Amino acid sequence: MRLCMIGTGYVGLVSGVCFSDLGNEVICVDKNINKINNLKKGIIPIYEPGLEELVLKNYKNKRLNFSTNLKESVKKSDIIFICVGTPTKKNSNSADLSQVYTAGKEISKSINKYKIIINKSTVPVTTGDDLEKIISKNVNKKYFSVVSNPEFLREGEAIRDFVYPDRVIVGSNDSKSQRVLKSLYAPLISKGAKYISTNRRSAELIKYASNAFLATKVTFINEIANLCEKIGIDVEDISIGIGLDKRIGSRFLRAGPAYGGSCFPKDTKAIVSTADKFKTNLSIIKSVIKSNNIRSDLLSKRVNFILKNKIKNKIVSFLGVTFKANTDDMRDSSSLKLIPFLSKKGAKIKYYDPTGSKKEFRKLKNVEFSSSIKESLKGADIAIVHTEWNDFKSINFKKFSKNKKLIIYDMRNIYSPDKIKKHGFKYFGIGR
Ligand code: UDX
Repeated sequence: MRLCMIGTGYVGLVSGVCFSDLGNEVICVDKNINKINNLKKGIIPIYEPGLEELVLKNYKNKRLNFSTNLKESVKKSDIIFICVGTPTKKNSNSADLSQVYTAGKEISKSINKYKIIINKSTVPVTTGDDLEKIISKNVNKKYFSVVSNPEFLREGEAIRDFVYPDRVIVGSNDSKSQRVLKSLYAPLISKGAKYISTNRRSAELIKYASNAFLATKVTFINEIANLCEKIGIDVEDISIGIGLDKRIGSRFLRAGPAYGGSCFPKDTKAIVSTADKFKTNLSIIKSVIKSNNIRSDLLSKRVNFILKNKIKNKIVSFLGVTFKANTDDMRDSSSLKLIPFLSKKGAKIKYYDPTGSKKEFRKLKNVEFSSSIKESLKGADIAIVHTEWNDFKSINFKKFSKNKKLIIYDMRNIYSPDKIKKHGFKYFGIGR
């Protein structure tokens, strides 16, 4: 099939490349000329394991192409995916849908035969209805269908999540587009992916409700971790103990820093805002947002406690600054609160991240990027391990640090406290 992806951000690029790898002809469109030129040269704008290889392979075999010309690309395609950003509006919790609607308007000017327009951007319920109205201003309804097909790709695992999804959700109000979509996803369905067809509004809500539920699960275990710290028990035992109940499930029960990234913070706020519009109080999700917002402050206080209120002049090795491992994404990472807090309190922070230095910290006092784990640990009083990269899991602290009093604050519980203590270091984790 001939596909056009509008927007080469995370979702558009990963989905486009993966669809081309399944044998479809795909054009990825973006307004940003530099991005498109770079992609043609094989330069990938994001860090995502396995993506570069797939781009190079499919660009070479001409199933994948990149363009800045939306009109021509839409004309050549049967299915158009809208994959643009839906950030939180300034001074509001609702999603800014201007990019989705602009894409809809532009698509409507290039419809020369029946086309399926799929919204893959995360949008509030009823956005598909509005998109349909916008397009029908220029095009007769018999020449297009508007479908919702949310993505569930995790950063760092996106290719795997695309190829082996738990489920594919397609929300459409007509049978023609459902038939086409089912055949587009046939290669994944034949490998065991569950294909669920719903109406369009349901598909839109499934996406928000999924992310809100996962954010709730993470926040739940984070609060249980707070309690474990007070009682002196290990939250890891609790996660295992409750996760083995099949009704609960063990995934997304790892206690850690506040959840972050491009989806959970934005989507929890947006679903609450949608519910407000429909005069429904989503009190659980509201509490989750509140709990997550104060979590970074709790962790800052804990660092203060660990350092016995003497943060000034302490050398802090901060390992991993992105919102989680295997991504270069800084959006809503709790390091954006923790590092400024430490800097303000007079600590000297040497941070290391496998994806390189970050512009967010460039202007902060006493914050510098270290080019390796070893360099970051040199002279450190405390090592704060903020993300769970494999590179951090087997650090030989004894080899890298001459400081016998080194404190390790393991924010992802990746070390065995006993082993660390056996080497003579002080150990603190989350909820243990
Ligand atoms: C998420 C959803 O998982 C994905 O389906 C959706 O399409 C996009 O949003 P992503 O933002 O890449 O994916 O990250 P995810 O792996 O879900 O983690 C989100 C946040 O929760 C991170 O801050 C992560 O560190 C945290 N988390 C996750 C935990 O603290 N503990 C866990 O057990 C799982």
